[in-house]
Parts: sequence; C-alpha cells; structure tokens
Amino acid sequence: MNKSKLKKLIDKRHRLIPGAAHTYSKGDDQFPANAPKVIIKGAGAYVWDENGKKYLDWCMGLRSVSLGHCYKKVNDAVSRQMKEGTNFGRPHAIEFELADYLIKVLPATQMVKFAKNGSTVTTAAIKLARAHTGRKYIAFCKDHPFFSYDDWFIGTTACDSGVPEEIRKLTLCFRYNDISTLEKLFNDYRNKIACVIMEAATSEPPRDNFLKSVQNLCHANRAVFILDEMITGFRWGLGGAQKYFGIKPDLSTYGKGIANGYSLAVLAGRRDIMELGGIIQKKSPKVFLISTTHGAETISLAAGMATIEEMKNKRVTDHFWKMGKLLQNGLQKLIAKRGIENHVKVFGFPPNLSMGFFDKKGESSALIRTVFLQEIVSRNILFQGYFAVSFSHKRKEISDTLKVFDQALSKLAVAISDDKLEKELIGPTVKGVFQKYN
Ligand SMILES: Cc1ncc(COP(=O)(O)O)c(C=O)c1O
Repeated sequence: MNKSKLKKLIDKRHRLIPGAAHTYSKGDDQFPANAPKVIIKGAGAYVWDENGKKYLDWCMGLRSVSLGHCYKKVNDAVSRQMKEGTNFGRPHAIEFELADYLIKVLPATQMVKFAKNGSTVTTAAIKLARAHTGRKYIAFCKDHPFFSYDDWFIGTTACDSGVPEEIRKLTLCFRYNDISTLEKLFNDYRNKIACVIMEAATSEPPRDNFLKSVQNLCHANRAVFILDEMITGFRWGLGGAQKYFGIKPDLSTYGKGIANGYSLAVLAGRRDIMELGGIIQKKSPKVFLISTTHGAETISLAAGMATIEEMKNKRVTDHFWKMGKLLQNGLQKLIAKRGIENHVKVFGFPPNLSMGFFDKKGESSALIRTVFLQEIVSRNILFQGYFAVSFSHKRKEISDTLKVFDQALSKLAVAISDDKLEKELIGPTVKGVFQKYN
C-alpha cells in the first residue's frame, strides 16, 4: 500500500471501525501517544509499523503467536492446506485428525470442539454446564480479568451497556485464594450454581491448596468446574496449568497459542458433558453447541497441528520457562537497582509475566504506566505491560529488552523522585478496557 493511502486510512480509522481495532486491548487508548498506529508486518520476535520502524514485540498478537511471526513450519503447513481447500459442506478429515491428536495431548480431555475465538468456547462451556446441571447461575473469579465478550461476563464489568439486568443477575463472583467467598456462594445459592469458571493463576500463585479446594467444592455441589486455559494452555506446558497444579477440571477452554496466531480455540472436557452437544445421545435434549460457518476452517486447523507438533518436538514450553525466568530475574534486579520496588512490580509465572505500576499510596497508576510505556516504545520495543515470550525470543531479545528496560526504569525513577511524571507525558494516559464512558 502506498504511503499516502496508508496515511489517509490511519487518519479516518475511527470512522471506519468502532474502536478502530477488533480487540479493545489493541485500541489507541491502551498505548502511549508514541506507539505505532498500525502494524504492517512481523517476522520472528519483531514487527514493523506504518513508518517502517522496527520493534521488538512483546505483545505477540495478544499472546496468540507463540512460535514467532511468520514461523516457517506453520506457514508451510498452511500453504499445503490452502492448496486443498479451506471450507466444505461436510467435515474435513483434518477436524478428526486434530481432535484425535488433542485428546492425546491435553489432560482431562475426552472430546473437543473447535471455534475461532476464546469467547466462543468459554460461553459454550457455560451453556453446556447449564444444560448438564439444569441450573442457571454462574460463579466466576473476580480477580481474573477477562473470560468472554459475551453478556454473561461483560455484564459484570463497567461496560454493561446493552446487557439486560436479568442476564447480569445470573453471574456471581468469588475472590481468588479466598475459598470462603466461593463457599458462601454455594450456601447462598444452594443447588442453583451450574458452574465455576476461573484461570488457574494470573499474577498471584494459588495458596493453601486453593485450586483443589475449588475443584472439591464444585464436585460436592455437583457444579461443573471450568478452567480457562486461554493464557496458560500451550504455554506452561502442553498439559497447561492443570497439569502443573495437578487439578482436573470438567471442562477446559483454550485459545491463544494453539495455532501460532491463526484463529483456533478449543473447548475440551468430559465426554458425558460434551456429548450433550452431540447427535448420537438420546437421553437429554440436544444442546445447540458451537455451530458456525468458519468453526473448522481447515487453514487454522493445519496451523494448529503444525504448531503443536513443533512445540512438542522442540520442547517449546521449556523455552518459555527458561526465557521467562531470565527476564523475571533480570527485571527484579533492575527495579531494585533503581530503588522503585514500591512503584514497579513484576508479577506472574515465567511463561506469563506482567508488570504493574503503582503510586505512592500503592494504587495502580496509569500515569506511571504511561510514562514507562512511552520510554519503552521510544526505544523500539512494543510492550503493553505483559511479556508474551515466544520461541523466537532468544537470549539476545532478553538481553536487548533488559538494556532498554534499565534505561527506561532509570528515567522513571528520576521522574518519580523529582515529582515530574506529569511533565514527561506526551499524550493522554493509557486506560483500562472496561471504561463505562470513553
Ligand atoms: C483468560 C481469557 N479467557 C478468554 C478470553 C477471550 O478470548 P478471545 O479474545 O479469543 O475471544 C481471553 C482473551 O484475552 C482471555 O485472556
């Protein structure tokens, strides 16, 4: 595309697409003013913006690109599949091939169903749980940021516009590492809760056997235990966080990282629950489970097969842990060196690290975050607060990152101690995605 056409499109982007992006977390309000407006291409751990500027990428397609941009083995599998066709009037053989493969790879999985997005599979898990139990309430972990853009979840956030009150009332919440909050829900809504949905761990590790207690509580109350492995699956190990923590959910949901950025999400779990969406069982009414035109488009399935095989053969998840650990140790040392441990923190497990920014009172600070992100972007790193380490992030990328972060932390430390954060701002502060008004 020529430069003047590109500039015109960028200028009118908010008139073309609401939010000028297809995920709110990619939006202009999520990045500092000096961030690229668009990405033109990617290769390995790098991306290029509208001006041809190259960035080391830590966003990696919202964590979906786990091997690297334009990874050859995956793209070769995709182009082989392209030559055989993308979509047909009956299932393609690759649907069964990938399903069979995943059932062998994923723990606690007797059946799978494919989709294009994570939201589709978490919502499908909720629907199955309601059908299986004949109950309508859902309990989700309030400390975990996102499960779906569908009404059952988004209606619980500040962005509840368009969601009827009746739907919102059916979703209840409990707190991570506080089993009493879930016990209370099961007591207050006795025999009314269909399922519990949560991630295994985000920034905080589970304490006091929390995950096993959730699992036991679900079973004692005959509720379905759904583990959302969108971020942890295919990252903490091929068995995800459930294998790491030794838990056995009834249903699991996967999305990011399965197909190196191609669009593939998976609902996985117990046969007796999954089969409700089948056409063989006769005992229960059929659940109209995921049924979409593009659900099993062959290109993404081929990408999924190739990605998982590469992950297995090259022990890619070990690489995530190793690189993540280097990053975690390096960052903690840098933060301590600048004496700003109260303002900047590194959270999470090595394959899924993130950074938090806090003011003097210990409250999350958009101002500090923005000043820091500005500094990072100006030094050619695309970073939004989390590290989506991929197989293309090697020692060089880690050491380049630590050098840049050292410079940015040094500048931030001075701005904090001189009380000059506001002066450093070159545009509006970044926002959270759940804003009632823009
Ligand atoms: C834990 C978790 N669950 C579900 C989703 C929804 O996935 P998708 O954006 O593919 O609909 C996300 C997306 O960020 C997520 O992080």
